[in-house]
Amino acid sequence: MAYYCLFVSFLASSGFIIFTCQRVGRINVIDFMTVVQEQDSSTAFADLRTASVENPEQVCHEVEGAEFRIFCPFFQIVTDPQVLHAPEDWITRLAARFSWLDSITAEQDSRSVETRSQAAYFEFLEMYVTGLCFGAAEYSIEPSFGPPTKVALNEDRRRGGLDWAYLGDTMTGSLRIKSVRGLLQDVFSKNISGHFIETGVWRGGMSIFARGVIRAMNQTHRKSFVCDSFRGLPPGDRDLDNQDKGWDNMPYLAVADEIVAGNFKAAGVLDPNVIFVKGFFKDSMPELAKMIDSLAIMRLDGDMYESTVDVLYHLYGKLSIGGYVIMDDWTGFPSRTACLDFFSAHGISPSVILVDDLSAYWQKNEHVDIQYWRYEQLKFKSEA
Ligand SMILES: C[S@@+](CC[C@H](N)C(=O)[O-])C[C@H]1O[C@@H](n2cnc3c(N)ncnc32)[C@H](O)[C@@H]1O
Repeated sequence: MAYYCLFVSFLASSGFIIFTCQRVGRINVIDFMTVVQEQDSSTAFADLRTASVENPEQVCHEVEGAEFRIFCPFFQIVTDPQVLHAPEDWITRLAARFSWLDSITAEQDSRSVETRSQAAYFEFLEMYVTGLCFGAAEYSIEPSFGPPTKVALNEDRRRGGLDWAYLGDTMTGSLRIKSVRGLLQDVFSKNISGHFIETGVWRGGMSIFARGVIRAMNQTHRKSFVCDSFRGLPPGDRDLDNQDKGWDNMPYLAVADEIVAGNFKAAGVLDPNVIFVKGFFKDSMPELAKMIDSLAIMRLDGDMYESTVDVLYHLYGKLSIGGYVIMDDWTGFPSRTACLDFFSAHGISPSVILVDDLSAYWQKNEHVDIQYWRYEQLKFKSEA
């Protein structure tokens, strides 16, 4: 049973916020009565955590607006089991094992114990999120509109991200996971500032993997934004592209926020810097953009034209020079058309690098003035 427990208003640094705190079972929710205006990004998420730490009985992890909500479920997922150890524990344990092995074996490895421990953990986590760790218990779901169909697992298709996982937490496949790991390591080594965001997370497996890398490599000052409707793809009724219809008829892609947060907890990577953003991107991205200072990696996996322009027009300006955009759906998807139109409309032609048969990424090498009027007028084609 839900009941309102608090009604508070306060002045943020540059925006006036009124919110209510609502108790739903064991979950406390803050409802934004007016949408955050021009809020300073340094305080936007700190407010959430301060509330949690100072008053654990009334933690306000969830911020809900009329159209979307932002929440950090770190303290509230108390009943879900944690299946895996935290990344830091894995690294410590593996490092002890490597050190001992080094002391008793003749072969010397030129890589440091830390590097080998991280690499071993990443291989392990990859097998977990892809579902390949489940062996004969894992199956494939054939990508299709309508009800899901279960077939025998083909490991090659799973590695290439060509099927949908049955027990696994991601459908992106091993090659794309290794690529994300490489891009994260690249931005860390070059000190490219900013957070990680995935728009379109399904069960959360790719973002879980990325959080594992962020933590194992001591980059926990970077947030992970986990963005989804958590109820599937939108109806495509904005008529932005003629390939945008029908995507809402895929019930297998609708995974509730509580389940995704539970998947983070199970994998040992749920922490206060994992921020869930719930809502269709057309509603969530304009507000989220006001709260984010910079991004190092943007991973777009929303398949559709509209799901791509909603993110690019609001967040590409936040991407640091040297940062990356990963397009999960490049070959044969309307999201690719959206990117090509975005390039053309902004007079840029970045080198797009293919990861596997479906996926690609590019590096941002120049400042781009976002032609936001195009978004407001829905004129995404450069000739418009
Ligand atoms: C192909 S799945 C993502 C797969 C995921 N990245 C993984 O690692 O397995 C697409 C996801 O995008 C979400 N999505 C697509 N378009 C969206 C939109 N416009 N707003 C919110 N969520 C969207 C769907 O709900 C779905 O969870």
